[in-house]
Amino acid sequence: MMARRLARAFGRGYPGPTLAPRAVITGAFSYIGAAAARELRGRGWAIHTLTNRRAPAGAGHITSARLTFDPDHLAAELRGADAFVNTYWIRLPHGVDDFATAVEHNRMLVAAAVRARVGRLVHVSVSNASLDSRLGYYRGKAEVDAAVRSCGLPHAIVRPTLVVGPADVLTSNIAWFLRRFPVFPVPDGGRYRLQPVTLADTGRIVADAAEACGDLDVDAAGPDVVTFREYVELVARACGVRRALFDTPGRLALAGIRMAELFLGDTVLAREELAGLEQELLVSHAPPLGAERVDAWLLAHGTELGRSYVNDRRRHFGDLATSPIAIP
Ligand SMILES: NC(=O)c1ccc[n+]([C@@H]2O[C@H](COP(=O)([O-])OP(=O)(O)OC[C@H]3O[C@@H](n4cnc5c(N)ncnc54)[C@H](OP(=O)(O)O)[C@@H]3O)[C@@H](O)[C@H]2O)c1
Repeated sequence: MMARRLARAFGRGYPGPTLAPRAVITGAFSYIGAAAARELRGRGWAIHTLTNRRAPAGAGHITSARLTFDPDHLAAELRGADAFVNTYWIRLPHGVDDFATAVEHNRMLVAAAVRARVGRLVHVSVSNASLDSRLGYYRGKAEVDAAVRSCGLPHAIVRPTLVVGPADVLTSNIAWFLRRFPVFPVPDGGRYRLQPVTLADTGRIVADAAEACGDLDVDAAGPDVVTFREYVELVARACGVRRALFDTPGRLALAGIRMAELFLGDTVLAREELAGLEQELLVSHAPPLGAERVDAWLLAHGTELGRSYVNDRRRHFGDLATSPIAIP
């Protein structure tokens, strides 16, 4: 432990023998967890992940254990961690899992981190989480943030906006619809704003939070704020397609999406997700920590975007639930 503290204090220049600080990360074979693992690994950390996915090829340097909500198992897996990066959450209620169970599971993870005396707890939340929110996702996130703040461990809370990368559900599926249909209905005109951040920037911000000292509460947001309509236009440009965007009342847009969902077997956009967008909850109110421009990222990756539909339900509850999403 002392060697790890020295390593952290001196960075990669410290010449001791057992240097690598150790991070335990939930979801290192998934999305933000994979980006955080990649960044921390690049900074010399050893990574252990809690996940229900198989390791992808090339991830042999990462040890893993099942993510199950047994307090003894969690405490044992977290023991000896210099940092615990918690990304666990559910996007949508499904079966017995809803936001209340996600909050409960997060409280168990925080309690296990306290029991295991991890060096630092880095919790990935969401921008504008609020106990006053009428949206279960944002209210549940705020409840977990409160548990993190009062747990007594040195901690950081990182709040991403919309995280844009190769496996991002919203951006990929906007691209998928744009590629396949001549028109794109924009719910309620799309004049509400968002401030996306790239996945690589998010991984860096999470890793910075793991290496920082003192308690932190930071947003992970990119340098540019755009309206939803501008974002769709940008994705269309990145994909090299010209499409007619037309204003559609939100209810009508959701009704159309529900029809598409019958064929896709997925939840494309939930009512609460549209409400979160329209309430501009994906906009930060702090100077942006993200430096990479999302428009540049989209233009550089447009040829791959939307080639196939990203089915989030299959990815979490179906035949892809144990397949890796990203290579850390
Ligand atoms: N992606 C975004 O744009 C975005 C924006 C704002 C905030 N966030 C927050 O960032 C965190 C990470 O998001 P992410 O997009 O990286 O999520 P993710 O890849 O879907 O999952 C993150 C973690 O939650 C676990 N998980 C997700 N759904 C689950 C389910 N139904 N049952 C059991 N475990 C489940 C995953 O388990 P496995 O390891 O088994 O996959 C993984 O450990 C979340 O707290 C999310 O709310 C994300």
